[in-house]
Amino acid sequence: MPQQPDTTAITAGRDGSPSLSPALWPSTVWESADLDDATRRATGQRSDHFYSRFSNPTVTQFEKAIAELEGAEAALAFGSGMGAIASLVLALCGTGSHIVAQNNIYGATATFLRGPCARFGIETTFVDPTVPGAFAAAVIPGRTMLVLAESPSNPLLTIANLQELGAIAGPFTVVDSTMATPLGQRPLDFGVDIVLHSATKGIGGHNDALLGVLAGESDLLNEIWSYSVMHGSVASPHDALNALRGIRTLGVRVERQNNSALTVVHALSSHPAVTAVHHPFLESHPQHTIARTQMRFGGSVLSFELAGGIDACHTFVNNLSLAHIATSFGGPETLVCHPATSTQVGLDANTLNALGVTPGLLRLSLGLEDARDIVADITFALSKI
Ligand SMILES: Cc1ncc(COP(=O)(O)O)c(C=O)c1O
Repeated sequence: MPQQPDTTAITAGRDGSPSLSPALWPSTVWESADLDDATRRATGQRSDHFYSRFSNPTVTQFEKAIAELEGAEAALAFGSGMGAIASLVLALCGTGSHIVAQNNIYGATATFLRGPCARFGIETTFVDPTVPGAFAAAVIPGRTMLVLAESPSNPLLTIANLQELGAIAGPFTVVDSTMATPLGQRPLDFGVDIVLHSATKGIGGHNDALLGVLAGESDLLNEIWSYSVMHGSVASPHDALNALRGIRTLGVRVERQNNSALTVVHALSSHPAVTAVHHPFLESHPQHTIARTQMRFGGSVLSFELAGGIDACHTFVNNLSLAHIATSFGGPETLVCHPATSTQVGLDANTLNALGVTPGLLRLSLGLEDARDIVADITFALSKI
């Protein structure tokens, strides 16, 4: 019987065991019955019960859960979101390959594309994801292997049009959907080939699991696995267990954080010290209509700009008492960070300005506290500027 995604999250990944909670398999190695059996396990595609760099039953449960939530044939977990991104690119690209990526993609992804990938002769064209048709226009037939989008983007929450991405023929289309979580949007439903998450964020949801995951067609993921088993960015079973527990409460967490984000967004929008507020479900967001079409929830993260620049940011942050100064997002605590000097710190001033990461920009990750307390904390800190 068809069911709502929040209901699917309660049982996603269950392996038929009567235990309501997943089993933790810390083992790195399994015993074979004889040498033929050992060969079969050593050469099998995504062999289970052989060696945990190849596969691990607890990680497999996490992968099954993500595949169910994303409506995918299969999923493949990694030791971090960056592990997933690096493995994906290096599995599918080689010297002479071309990638189309959005210009405001997550800082470490951009650095990976501009640094190691360029060094290996993998060229990237960066495009503005908000310009209709920009991704498709940059595709070089026969050379472009990957089209990489991130929606919503970190930290400005721009939206890539999933319908447009899904219609691109030729290269594999990939959407980093970390900010949305599998309950906020499902890029595969729009024809995108691979959805990617840093499960370290909302999926894990408790700041105690470092994990990445890809979901898509089995054949494609098997091909990526054949490379990633050598790359070695392997998901830990302990982190997979924590993420499975996180998935059980993803529905209530995402809904509450989304509602809190909207409450805070409206409180910020009316304040004279604030010059801009960014959240996909804010009516004034330039791609609000697209966001509403392709997302169930706008996400737990918002960003905003203070007229007073970096000095105002220092004053604001120093007067917060409930929100913590920390990177990352999607956990129980409300977190604040200053992207220009933390998450995007490696970029020069011109690039930062071009991307809209101004000195007055702050990113807020809404936690699970009562929204009234979060608003009170923010309103007090704003009054001190
Ligand atoms: C949108 C996005 N993608 C990927 C990553 C990388 O994930 P991880 O830190 O798990 O490697 C991050 C990390 O913040 C992110 O925000």
